Amino acid sequence: VGGARAYHERVVDHYENPRNVGSFKDDDPSVGTGLVGAPACGDVMKLQIRVDESTGKITDACFKTFGCGSAIASSSVATEWVKGKQMEEVLTIKNTEIAKHLSLPPVKLHCSMLAEDAIKAAVKNYEAKKAKLGQNGEEKA
Ligand code: FES
Ligand code: FES
Repeated sequence: VGGARAYHERVVDHYENPRNVGSFKDDDPSVGTGLVGAPACGDVMKLQIRVDESTGKITDACFKTFGCGSAIASSSVATEWVKGKQMEEVLTIKNTEIAKHLSLPPVKLHCSMLAEDAIKAAVKNYEAKKAKLGQNGEEKA
């Protein structure tokens, strides 16, 4: 078990069986939604995170992608990588890491960029919602 071969098969599996396809309710204050589009091809990706307010940890993630297979596989990997991590931590996920993980060719790099952008947008959306609801415990004067 394990080793390079098993690893490769798991990656291929993201194309055939994307993980975490779905939606969370956007009006849920524990949910952050990132919606991004790729100007190059018009594909759109929605990635959502569910955050535990007390710890800042991402407990769940899902996506819906209207795009190519590489964009769908990139979203699938992104949702797996963000689960169980802190929000600050997922902001450091680079599209090049996702592309490398999936062995994407250079022409498909922008597809993985959608995933990086969607993660950042989801965190930003969660933070903005939280600030608006005044749940950050620091009342702005
Ligand atoms: Fe699923 Fe690596 S094979 S994230
Ligand atoms: Fe545009 Fe893949 S071709 S996201």
